[in-house]
Amino acid sequence: MKAVILPAYNNNLIRALISMKVEDKAIPEPTEGQVQIKMEAAPCNPSDIAFLRGEYNIVKSLPCIPGFEGCGIITKVSDGIDEKFVGKRVSCFIQDDEGGTWSEYAVANITDCIFLKNKMSIEQGACFLVNPFTAYGLYELAQEDNCETIIQNAASGQVGRFIRVFAKKNKLKVINIVRKAEQLDQLKAEGEKYILDSSAEDFAEQLKALANKLNATMAYDAVGGEMTAQLLNAMPPDSEVILYGGLSGADVSGIDPMTVIFDSKILSGFNLMDWMENLEDGEFEEVSDYLQDLFINGTLKTDIQGSYSYDEVVTGIRAYIGNMSRGKILIK
Ligand SMILES: NC(=O)c1ccc[n+]([C@@H]2O[C@H](COP(=O)([O-])OP(=O)(O)OC[C@H]3O[C@@H](n4cnc5c(N)ncnc54)[C@H](OP(=O)(O)O)[C@@H]3O)[C@@H](O)[C@H]2O)c1
Repeated sequence: MKAVILPAYNNNLIRALISMKVEDKAIPEPTEGQVQIKMEAAPCNPSDIAFLRGEYNIVKSLPCIPGFEGCGIITKVSDGIDEKFVGKRVSCFIQDDEGGTWSEYAVANITDCIFLKNKMSIEQGACFLVNPFTAYGLYELAQEDNCETIIQNAASGQVGRFIRVFAKKNKLKVINIVRKAEQLDQLKAEGEKYILDSSAEDFAEQLKALANKLNATMAYDAVGGEMTAQLLNAMPPDSEVILYGGLSGADVSGIDPMTVIFDSKILSGFNLMDWMENLEDGEFEEVSDYLQDLFINGTLKTDIQGSYSYDEVVTGIRAYIGNMSRGKILIK
């Protein structure tokens, strides 16, 4: 089989990309609890980018095959797994040392696979396991807290888009933070009412005024760095910032200790894998069912900006990092 191979992590992303090769590898065999999947498509997410740079919490032995999620057809099952699963299309998640989704075949734990409904497309199935569940899990927290308004940055990204859809269904107000004028125009055209551009000189003041006016007590932060502090410092008392991404690549800094102490503000984290582990029996299947139906009826959709072959993977990732808001790239 063909597979994309990363020989070494490199903090300089371009160097990491250039170092990647497409190689012939033996098709992996499923071991206990695993299935073999013929991959059809796999996206590149921010977590993959952090991984290539050696800055993610998953570190594989090198050289390795990157790619954490994707979709494909089960071609083999290990002993103890029902043969009837062969031929089924699944969305899968792989963080094991030996494999990755940027390859023609991969093995995944059956517990890290979601059986896709017939009407789910390959493209939407490839990006199903990470972002839709993350947006759902984050959004649930605002519902549990009976929030009137939430704030989210990276609002033009795919998680941001899904959160807006959920919020609209429940008439929850969203303050969307983007970082470019064209993203602001795009969200305005989509009917969003509250949009702030973080590159504006008076962004901190605008954020404080709007967050207090709309009583925004929960923020989803995918950026980190100074942005986390800007959010926490701007929000009204008893607010919570939930950090779920580190797109800025910078450590959180600049939090006003007085506002944390005297205004009871909280900085917390969200990790999809932990959220999944804490679900009750049958809940994951229920959420998966619900989300797949939303994709099938067109309520949710992951934007795909292009598809690339293994040999074009570097071109594809460069297109993605040059304009992440345009959508995911798929490696096919
Ligand atoms: N914690 C978890 O379990 C979990 C699970 C899934 C996703 N995530 C995180 O969720 C975040 C969003 O993922 P996604 O797939 O929705 O992203 P995406 O669709 O690839 O889009 C990324 C968005 O972030 C913007 N962005 C990139 N770098 C930025 C920066 N330094 N400052 C501000 N905005 C920036 C991009 O804008 P441009 O177009 O201007 O670049 C784009 O709008 C990522 O951080 C990802 O790691 C976390």
